[in-house]
Amino acid sequence: MKFIVDQQVEDIEMPENLKLNTFLQEFHSDCPHKECGFGFYGFAFGQSPFPVPQIIQDTLIKNVHKGEYAAVSGIPELRNAISKYNKHYFGIDVIPNRIYVGPGTKELIFNLLEILHGTVILPTPAWLGYLPQIRFLKKNYHMLPTRANKKISPADLRKLALRLQDRQKILILNNPHNPTGLLYDKLELEEIADVCREQNITVISDEIYAQTCYDFSKFVSMGKIYPEGTFVTNGLSKSHAAGGYRLGYVIFPQHAIELKDQFKKILATEYTAVSTPIQHAAVAGFEISSEIDEYFEVTRNIHQIMGEYTYHELSAIEGVKATKPDATFYLLADFNAYSPELQKAKISTSQKLSEALIVHPYHTAIVGGDSLVLERTDFSARIAFVDYNGAAVYKNYLENKPKTSSERTQFVKDNAPKIVLGIKMIEQFFEDLKKNNLHELNAKKSSMITS
Ligand SMILES: Cc1ncc(COP(=O)(O)O)c(C=O)c1O
Repeated sequence: MKFIVDQQVEDIEMPENLKLNTFLQEFHSDCPHKECGFGFYGFAFGQSPFPVPQIIQDTLIKNVHKGEYAAVSGIPELRNAISKYNKHYFGIDVIPNRIYVGPGTKELIFNLLEILHGTVILPTPAWLGYLPQIRFLKKNYHMLPTRANKKISPADLRKLALRLQDRQKILILNNPHNPTGLLYDKLELEEIADVCREQNITVISDEIYAQTCYDFSKFVSMGKIYPEGTFVTNGLSKSHAAGGYRLGYVIFPQHAIELKDQFKKILATEYTAVSTPIQHAAVAGFEISSEIDEYFEVTRNIHQIMGEYTYHELSAIEGVKATKPDATFYLLADFNAYSPELQKAKISTSQKLSEALIVHPYHTAIVGGDSLVLERTDFSARIAFVDYNGAAVYKNYLENKPKTSSERTQFVKDNAPKIVLGIKMIEQFFEDLKKNNLHELNAKKSSMITS
């Protein structure tokens, strides 16, 4: 039997994160050097390393018997809890019936793109998840490359919007931002909102990293600045380290009454409702409690310590520039200063750079520029600083909170040796490249990994 795949699917590329997974598995398992059995230095995966908060796990266990379908928009207890959560943490007044629960924000963003007419404006660099969805839905789209500060320029946004003929445009705003780790402040959001009002731009504000802001008091939701035109998405995946639970939510703009019915229709058609036990467990994650509050504080402090270290160490490598993260567990490293040497070594694209870094002896996994919706020849990469044992590090942090700058550095050395060694490997790679020595050093270097 030969199956014929629908042309619409044939035309879609495998999302970059899945390609990356396969690529890393193939590469690291091949290394013949015994001392490399540790795998690789993992700067590629965007997953919180911490355990799911105990209170969520316990609530899930208590609700496992709930086999009935849930309401399409989410169980009332959860929509209530999300409403209160938004008031408490983000200062947004949102009645529960403006909230829809879905199987992850990725799906909800897809659903929003399905119901909203218009040309999509995608600022770059961007999270690797948006573009395949936009392409799948065959929507018109335009990139909006950011400038040196890596943030949306309101003037550029206006210029682009003026060129677009569509009655409605959709801006995908990701704040805090994957891959740069940067946070937009209130003024920056207000300037973007002014352009959006003027140019009839609807905003999908992906705020999945909101709780990871190192200084949480600095976070401002676009839902507060531009409530009439913003769809805010958020969920359990990053803040509660529960990506595998597949639970996200979207807050609809005020007065979007007729849209809500259209949206419900799409959700009911595509997945009926999110798993009922998971929704009950999520209530415990969104309810205000000292346990969850402490979890947010500890995890964001650890992300900050790892982020500061990674930023300083990478910036100290000659020719390397990095964004200084305000949130998330990523930063964007710019290796373009090495472009001539990379070209000379026949490393002509960012994908090739990722490949050159994963082979022996470097064994360092990064996400290259084209996966971040940058030019293929842009040697920028996302560096995720989460390659450590989250449960152990959480405990160690509580037992002995590092205070001074040297204690914080020591904390990284003691708790995240793979981050420390991985950055050394990146440094070594560029040193070898400079010396035109990439290949020759391969054999010698293996001993360094274990030391
Ligand atoms: C910017 C951004 N948005 C959305 C998601 C997906 O979130 P969810 O697990 O809720 O689908 C991710 C996950 O990596 C992300 O980085």
